[in-house]
Amino acid sequence: MTTSARFWDRIADRYSRKPVPDETIYQQKLKITRQLMHPNMEVVEFGAGTGSTALAHAPHVRHILATDVSPRMMEIARGKAAAAGIDNVRFEVSSVEELAVAAESVDLVLGLSILHLLEDRDAAITKVWDMLRPGGYFVSSTPCLGDWFKLFKLVGPVGHFFGVIPMVKVFTRKELDDSLSNAGFTIEHAWQPERKQGVFIVARKPA
Ligand SMILES: C[S@@+](CC[C@H](N)C(=O)[O-])C[C@H]1O[C@@H](n2cnc3c(N)ncnc32)[C@H](O)[C@@H]1O
Repeated sequence: MTTSARFWDRIADRYSRKPVPDETIYQQKLKITRQLMHPNMEVVEFGAGTGSTALAHAPHVRHILATDVSPRMMEIARGKAAAAGIDNVRFEVSSVEELAVAAESVDLVLGLSILHLLEDRDAAITKVWDMLRPGGYFVSSTPCLGDWFKLFKLVGPVGHFFGVIPMVKVFTRKELDDSLSNAGFTIEHAWQPERKQGVFIVARKPA
């Protein structure tokens, strides 16, 4: 298991008990995402955590493949699905780097609070592009620490070294937009409720 997977595995139970930071904002993100959905949709989520978002969207699409690098996160997610009687979500342990999904087979990809945790966000965005059908959507939510906490570049690695926080990449909203645009995506909607909060982006692969 990688250091990152070990970190997330260790905190998975605690993470699953933590309420979302702002329920109103979370519900608004679910609502915006749901407006893109239709009952025949094939959805992939990477960095799915304990599966709450995938399970919330499940009744609105055909199938969701929800993946995460942490086996414990996926175990908790499977337990939640069983308790809720939801059977159209498959939870699979996989890093986004190792995720293998057929080209142009997916209508919507979710990557929520994850792009800043990856060594190479551009590679992940290209992977999303490849799996999406033309006209498909990539919905992401990403803290852009480069806009308000540049010093994190110095303090973050110390916290990471001591195992207190995960590896976090520092980049700006502009750099994130550029990553998406350079991959070919059109940004259809972007919402940043507050300066220090993540930016929620609906990006589309042109039809
Ligand atoms: C901040 S949590 C976000 C979880 C969920 N998306 C949410 O919004 O609550 C980040 C998740 O990404 C997973 N993760 C971290 N690095 C990953 C990687 N390289 N590939 C796939 N998942 C990863 C972690 O295990 C963790 O569950």
